[in-house]
Amino acid sequence: MNKLLLNGIIMALIMMAIASCQYKFIVEPVTPPPPPGDTTSFSLEIVPIWEEQNCTGCHPGVSQPDLTADNAYNSITQLGLVVAEDPDASKIYFYPLPDGNHFAKYTSSQAALIKYWIEEGAKNN
Ligand code: HEC
Repeated sequence: MNKLLLNGIIMALIMMAIASCQYKFIVEPVTPPPPPGDTTSFSLEIVPIWEEQNCTGCHPGVSQPDLTADNAYNSITQLGLVVAEDPDASKIYFYPLPDGNHFAKYTSSQAALIKYWIEEGAKNN
C-alpha cells in the first residue's frame, strides 16, 4: 500500500476518534420550564425529592424541618422556610442547592422544580 495513502487513512481514523469523543461529557438533565398554566404539584413532585435525596433520613420529624410526606408542608410553612413567590428568600429552596454545602443537595432539575413550585405560590396541592 502506498505510504501516503496509509498515512491518510491513519489520520482519518485519528480524526474520527477525536470527533467521536467530543460532547460525551455528562450533562445533567435540566427540567424545561413548565408550559404556561401548568402547576407543579407539591405532593407528587416536591415531596418525592426529599425522599429521593434522603432528606427525610435526617429530617424525619424529630429534627426540624420535618420533611416526611404528611408533615412537610406544615413544617416548612410554620418554620418560615418557604416564602411564596420568592425562592431566594425560601430556605427550603436555597439551603440544599447543588453548589451549597448542606448534608444533601438537590440536583439542578430538582432545584428548578422547587423554584417553580415556590414561584407558583408554594401551594399545598
Ligand atoms: C446528614 C443529615 C442531613 C441531611 C441528609 C439533610 N439535612 Fe437538612 N439539616 C440537617 C441539620 C443537622 C440541620 C440543622 C443545622 C443546619 O442548619 O445546618 C439541617 C437544617 C436544614 C434546613 C434549615 C432549617 C432551619 O430551620 O433553618 C433546611 C431547609 C434543610 N435542612 C433541608 C434539607 C433538605 C431539603 C435536605 C435534602 C436535600 C436535607 N436537609 C438533608 C441535617 C441534614
